[in-house]
Amino acid sequence: MKSPKSTQSIYAISPYVGGDVTPTGFVRRVVLASNENPYGPSEAVKQVVRDYTNIIHCYPSGAANNLRQAIAKSHDIDSDWLVTGNGSEDILHMLARTFAGPGDEVLIPQHGFGVYKIATLAVGATPIIVPRVNFKLTVDAIMARVTERTKIFYLDHPGNPIAHYLTNSEIDELLERMPNNVLVVFDSAYAEYMENADYHPGTKWVQKYPNVVMARSFSKAYGMANLRLGWLYAQPAIVDPIQRIRPPFNTTGISQAAGIAALNDQSWIRQCVALNQEILVKFIVNMEELKIPILSFSSNFVMAKFEDATKVYRYLGEKGLVVRPMGAYDLPNYLRITIGKAEEMNELVNVLKSCPIR
Ligand SMILES: Cc1ncc(COP(=O)(O)O)c(C=O)c1O
Repeated sequence: MKSPKSTQSIYAISPYVGGDVTPTGFVRRVVLASNENPYGPSEAVKQVVRDYTNIIHCYPSGAANNLRQAIAKSHDIDSDWLVTGNGSEDILHMLARTFAGPGDEVLIPQHGFGVYKIATLAVGATPIIVPRVNFKLTVDAIMARVTERTKIFYLDHPGNPIAHYLTNSEIDELLERMPNNVLVVFDSAYAEYMENADYHPGTKWVQKYPNVVMARSFSKAYGMANLRLGWLYAQPAIVDPIQRIRPPFNTTGISQAAGIAALNDQSWIRQCVALNQEILVKFIVNMEELKIPILSFSSNFVMAKFEDATKVYRYLGEKGLVVRPMGAYDLPNYLRITIGKAEEMNELVNVLKSCPIR
């Protein structure tokens, strides 16, 4: 019997595997698998969510006007240059739907965030992988892959699972060399965690270049992954076609209100980021003591290398510690470990000490 078939490129997609999968035999207790903020959102955000019940029957503001104004105020940018999304992955998909199609090429960093490839194949475009050297991207490697067909370059900034980023001067060079018909997407989902002097999330390049977009997320430092909220910042000529295809109510009223409360409580973000940094530094020392090689550039997670990562993953899981295997990212010897609370990381270090295989 015949049944409707999707296009060839849809069948080329390997569905996204998230950290919410609990393998059989695992008891989920401490989850260090999805780069979430272990402290959650601020109290103000929780209160907004609790208070929201009386208008659940009403449609939200499709354009998310109040939220866009709050983002604009918080970042000192123009609200007309903003589009909100159902998480930043929605933004990444909308960009592909708006700017790429069959016959086009989309540049994706090697070991880049899985959604880039899914979004590219979903519109029938061809993913072109930009190789890394020692886990780092270079401007030359990126530019060597640009062709007449290139439509988008998704730049993980910093990356996940490889938290490397291009420095300010490297990006200046990249944008000078990049043809301005290629959309350069700064995926800055982890920007709030980045305190390095040579890092910039992207606003200044959006203001300078008509082909630059910055995507941001409320899922990481803001601790709101379950509310699904993200946004993009770009010049009006880029925003215009995206607004035409954006699903009219792609962000809920609850998440919009929570986003405004979160932006108004920057002291919470500063506290969470400072704690993350303190615990990250200590964890790296602990891993060095255990002689477990670590790949860590910044952000709220590390990549740890093991001789048999699958066995270590299972060993940790059986003890109630869930981390993220990296086979889907072509890094089968690595486990990605989110920086959790101090007591969680101490427990992880102790379990790793007792782990017979590394
Ligand atoms: C690099 C990167 N970009 C984007 C996202 C998507 O975040 P969200 O859709 O929750 O905003 C993630 C989530 O893990 C990520 O790691």
